[in-house]
Amino acid sequence: MFSTTPVVYAVGNEYQIIFYVRCCAYAKITVGGIDFDDCVCGVMRSAKGIRKITVPQKLLDKAEEYTLVIQPVVARLAYRTQVIKTIEKKYRFNPVKSGCEIRAFMTGDAHGNAERSIKAAKTFGRFDFLIVNGDMSNKCEKIRSFETHHNVAAQLTGGKIPVVYARGNHENRGAAAELIYDYIPLKDGKTYYTFRLGSIWGLVLDCGEDKQDENVEYGGSVRFHSFRQEQTDYIREIIANAKNESDAQGVEHRVIVSHIPFIRDMNKPFTIENETYSEWAEILKQIKPEAIISAHMHTYEIMRDDAKSARFPAPCPTVVGTECRDEYLGATGLIFEKEGITVKFITSAGETVLSEKI
Ligand SMILES: [Fe+2]
Repeated sequence: MFSTTPVVYAVGNEYQIIFYVRCCAYAKITVGGIDFDDCVCGVMRSAKGIRKITVPQKLLDKAEEYTLVIQPVVARLAYRTQVIKTIEKKYRFNPVKSGCEIRAFMTGDAHGNAERSIKAAKTFGRFDFLIVNGDMSNKCEKIRSFETHHNVAAQLTGGKIPVVYARGNHENRGAAAELIYDYIPLKDGKTYYTFRLGSIWGLVLDCGEDKQDENVEYGGSVRFHSFRQEQTDYIREIIANAKNESDAQGVEHRVIVSHIPFIRDMNKPFTIENETYSEWAEILKQIKPEAIISAHMHTYEIMRDDAKSARFPAPCPTVVGTECRDEYLGATGLIFEKEGITVKFITSAGETVLSEKI
């Protein structure tokens, strides 16, 4: 069952607030006295299900609270639709602030098991924002496949801190994969975008699937080669606009979030897109990132310049941080300090496996 707690996703200079409504109802979010209605070109939405309302980041950061307003619709009619009294719930919101240590928790590879992601977060303790780094669903055959990422984010944040979302390759598999776009944040309809949280600037990239589009496993259902090439153009646009992006005033940390660690060498069917990924690695150097934050491999690894597993020179270390075993799921704590980032590999079994500064 989808949680009704809202999830506040950071995308560009906005927050996209995604929440679930269990009955036919109108919805709006009020921030700083301004109403943001859930409507389509002037028509209020009322269908039961997932909703997405976008609010300006600056406004919510300043207000530090928002109110979710639901008005149940008894009968949605062509004439004289009947509604009843509104239900309101106020949420405190803690924006990521500059000038202090910032703690982030990264989870991924839950493959449908929300409980293990939540347990690993407890091992890390308090954090200022959450990164949901893909493969939270094992396959997407039904809408309920999207419950895992939503419910993990809802439970871990309570709608009170921001979330960064990156799609994984397992979110591309099954009949409902094409419907995921209502359930996740998007920038101009795309799953790649930049975000800004306090002194941290980030770029989310989406490698799509882990094998070539022609692989028999996909049965012609994907077109990720051109989707990756689009992102090459996007990275170039970001670099051209650096003064408003990675070099904007107040930026002290720059990270890339990508479910698949595209720098890494893989086994035979998984080593794909050499040309595109080596180009990404090369041009990303201009952004001067401190880390590429990844999942997907079900292991722990910090890939530095001399890593044998790297297939081309990297712009920065890649942190692969979701070891997956029968007895536990791993995750990564990231502590952004004045100088550098401390990486902690932690598990749902309550252990901290490694703590290292990059
Ligand atoms: Fe994956």
